Order: sequence, then C-alpha cells, then structure tokens
Amino acid sequence: MIKIRIPASTANIGSGFDSLGIALNLYNYVEMEPEEGCFISSADGSEIPTGEDNLIYSSAKKVFEKAKVPFTGLKIIEENNVPFARGLGSSSACIVGGVSGANELLGNPFSKDELLNIAAEIEGHPDNVSPALLGGFTANAMEENKVCYVKAEVPEKLFFAAFVPPFELKTADARAVIPKEVSVKDAVFNLSRSALITASFLSGKFENLKTGSEDKIHQPYRLPLIPGGSEIIEKSYENGALAAYISGAGSTMMAIFDCGKEEAEKIAKNILSSGDFEGWKYFILNADNSGASAL
Ligand code: HSE
Repeated sequence: MIKIRIPASTANIGSGFDSLGIALNLYNYVEMEPEEGCFISSADGSEIPTGEDNLIYSSAKKVFEKAKVPFTGLKIIEENNVPFARGLGSSSACIVGGVSGANELLGNPFSKDELLNIAAEIEGHPDNVSPALLGGFTANAMEENKVCYVKAEVPEKLFFAAFVPPFELKTADARAVIPKEVSVKDAVFNLSRSALITASFLSGKFENLKTGSEDKIHQPYRLPLIPGGSEIIEKSYENGALAAYISGAGSTMMAIFDCGKEEAEKIAKNILSSGDFEGWKYFILNADNSGASAL
C-alpha cells in the first residue's frame, strides 16, 4: 500500500477568484494499492462514496488512462480530516490524492506539473488543486489545459483562523449566485487587488493584504448564503486581522493573523462566543509549504 498526505487549501483569498490559493496544515490521507475491482473504505468508518464515481478512484483511473496503462481497479482507504463542502478544498484533496497515488503506483511517470494539469482538468479551475499538490501560496492561470503558476513559501508567522459553520455550501450552488458578467470598473478593482496579494506573498510584505483581499466578483453575492460571515470579517479586522474573506466558495470564513498562535486562538474563541455562532468550530492553521507527499 502506498500512502499520500494531502493538505487542505483556501482559495481565492478574496480578489483572486479561481486563481489564488494557499495550502494549509490540515491533512487528508489516502492509502492505495492495485486490486481487481473497486474497494473503497474510510479509515474511521465514516460514510463516503464507495462506487467508481468516488473522486479519488476516478482521478486515479484518469492517470492510468493518461499513462496508457490498463486499469483493473484499486483498493483505497481514505482518512478525511478536511471538512466536506466547507470551502477548504476537500474535493481538490481527493483529486490530488487520486492522481498522486496513481502516479506513485505507476513509478512516477508524470512530473508534478503534468499531474497539476491533470488535476486542474478534473476540477475545472486550479486554485485549490495547485496549492494542494505543490504547497505554499500559488498564483495560477489556465492556458488551454496547462496551469501556468508561481509558488511562494508562506512564513510560519502567518496563522490562518478557519471559522467553519455547521452548514455545507456546495460549490455549484455558491457559483450559481455569481453574475455572469462584470463591469470594467469591477474587473480592475479585482485584478489590481489580486496582483497586490501575489506581490505580498512573493515579497513577504503583508501590509496590503486587507486591501488585496477586497472583492467585487463573488463575495458580495455569496455572503448572504453564509449567515454570520460578514460579522466574522468585521470582528476579525477589529482584532487586527491582516485579511478576512470567504475561504474558496465557502461556507468557511478565513482570517489571517500575524499575532502568534495563542493570540489568534484567543481571538477566534472570542469571536465565536460573541454572537450567534452556534455549531461553528475554528481551526488555527499554518500554511503547508510541501504539498501532497508520499509517506
Ligand atoms: N474558486 C472556486 C470558487 C473555489 O470560488 O468557486 C471553489 O472550488
């Protein structure tokens, strides 16, 4: 059995819709070995899709097809720690686990860049699969079926407070509320800010993250789907956050702090006990700079 560790990820960072993402040190694990048929189970007995449409299985199968190796089936054991349908890259973690596991089983015929192209083709956009596979902060653009990207390591002094609500938000539903067209004014608003975020991570100077994470493309339309979301952004800034935004398509709200782990934990706890946040949890995370790794 081979075993792959895959990080969670937080996409968009506000303005970088479908482009920017950061890997986080909260991990899923995938064990995989060749077996005739489809045998999928979860390490902790939790309910997961066990058919051939399981995203880890179908993503692994795609790698066999691309490598032109006959595919007869797989045994997969998954351990899922990344909350499902909460904007923390759980689907991308499955895709990256599947493609990385299959590549490992086949003796690594594909480079990481080639695996990234396959993963982005499956996901449809690169902003979660790219950091999940490569680690760190990544800025990404699709050029036909190729992901053009830049990666920057994220310093340990940055803590990511993930505020996870008790309700799911399916990416398809969160995408359905976004208008199909934007004005030039709003496009400029977002592209200038996503450039600021990328420059911040490449330079290690984070004083512009608050402005950088403002957005006119998706957050104004998605926040009404996340009761309490705006309040968390407001309270995070009152408590000195460098940035606060909807993580990916939501429902998780993310705030970035540079005040130390203990202080970030205290702030997160206070925020959740200050309003109507029943059932919300928080994680205080660092970035993961390694990406998916075979253990
Ligand atoms: N960029 C994507 C979105 C991330 O915001 O819809 C979720 O897959």
